[in-house]
Parts: sequence; structure tokens; C-alpha cells
Amino acid sequence: MGNKKIVANQKMYMTREDIGRFINIIGSLSSDQFIVCPSSIYLNEFQDTNLHLGIQNICPYEKGAYTGEISIGQAKDYQVQYAIIGHSERRSFFSEKNEMFQKKIELCLKEEVTPIFCIGETKEQYEMHKTNQVLKRQLFDVLKNIDSKQISKIIIAYEPVWAIGTGLVPTEQEIDAIVVYIKQLIKQEWNQEVEVLYGGSVNYKNIQKLKTISSIDGFLVGGASKDAGELLKMYEVVVS
Ligand code: PGA
Repeated sequence: MGNKKIVANQKMYMTREDIGRFINIIGSLSSDQFIVCPSSIYLNEFQDTNLHLGIQNICPYEKGAYTGEISIGQAKDYQVQYAIIGHSERRSFFSEKNEMFQKKIELCLKEEVTPIFCIGETKEQYEMHKTNQVLKRQLFDVLKNIDSKQISKIIIAYEPVWAIGTGLVPTEQEIDAIVVYIKQLIKQEWNQEVEVLYGGSVNYKNIQKLKTISSIDGFLVGGASKDAGELLKMYEVVVS
């Protein structure tokens, strides 16, 4: 239970000034269990810190004429070790689809960047008790061509869409059952173990309880990752 990760997804929240303050408070923290994913334009500001870094999105293509995109090679120039793929905001606001997630994950694996692949059901699917079915499809549609040697290099983030940024969180029993289900699916299909994170309205107030869920391997934290003090306290809770 002591080895849970915290992955901070700072979305598009921070300014350069905010980043400076954030780094002053937390920049010296060096831990495999603590990963910060800032807006890409600020990755350079993190180069003199000890923090482990991730990127919030990458281009599915290696290089070339892709206006506005960031390649995995460019991200690696800034010590990026993780990439968030398939976040529900990418799915809903930028219409990203499975084919793109497949390409991005394959590229990450080739370049030895750890993909953090996000899956999760909507409120409507949750209310209709379709969560397991939806998650299974999201997983298999994207990961079907990944071979079993590679699958354990992927981290899965279970993020119910209705819990992201809303203050709503499933019960510990619900999260545990779903994470166990995801791990079973991977085991059955690939005979491998994967790490599964939970994300959706995780904060300093609820992390104490959430960390007692033994099946989960960590947390993907959005809104609460803006505040370095709160994030540091959350990390201390998770590793204690
Ligand atoms: P939240 O976001 O913590 O603000 O709910 C989590 C996420 O989107 O990864």
C-alpha cells in the first residue's frame, strides 16, 4: 500500500508565475512516485528541478508538418518520462478517437515513455450500470494490438467522466471493484499485471480515505495539483 503514485495533471491552469511559485515549494522533490505534467510550454522551467515529468498529450506522428503539435522526441528533450493519453477532455473537447490513442501509445512504447492511458464512463453510462462494459471496450479497442511483453509498461488511469472536476467521487468499494475488474481483464487477455491509477476529484481531504483502497496504484490529480502545498501534503499522505 505504500507504493502509490501521484501524477499531477495541471491541465491549462497555470501561468508562468504560478509555475515559478510551484517549483519553489516542490521542485526539490525527487521520487518515482511523484510525477508532474505541466503545460508543455513550461517544461523548460522544470529542467533544473528534481521532479519527474510527464506530458499531457503528444502528437501521434513522430515528426513533420503537424502545426501546433509536440512530438515525443521534443518532449524527451525536456526529460519527459510519462505521457497522458486519452484523457476524457481530449476525447470530448478535441474529438480524439481510439485510432489516435493506439498510435500515441505505440509511439510511447517505442520511445520508452510510459503511457498513462485514461478510461472512464459517463454519468449516464454509470447510472445505466454499463461501467464495466464501457471500460472493457475502451481498453480492448485501443490495446488489442499491444503484445503481452509491452502491456505492463502501460499505466491505466480509471477516471469516471462524472467525477472529473465535479467534487463527486465513487465510493471506495466501487473504485476497488472497478480497478480489480480492469486488472482481471488485463490478466485474462495478456497474462500480465498493470498499474491502475484512480482520477477524479482527488484532493487533500479525500486522499486519506482513498489511499486505503489496496487495489489502486496511485492517483491522477487535476484541480488539486495547482497548489504545491496541497500536493506535497497529498504526496506525504500517500507515501506514509
Ligand atoms: P480533477 O481532474 O482532479 O480536477 O477531477 C482529474 C483529471 O482530469 O485527471
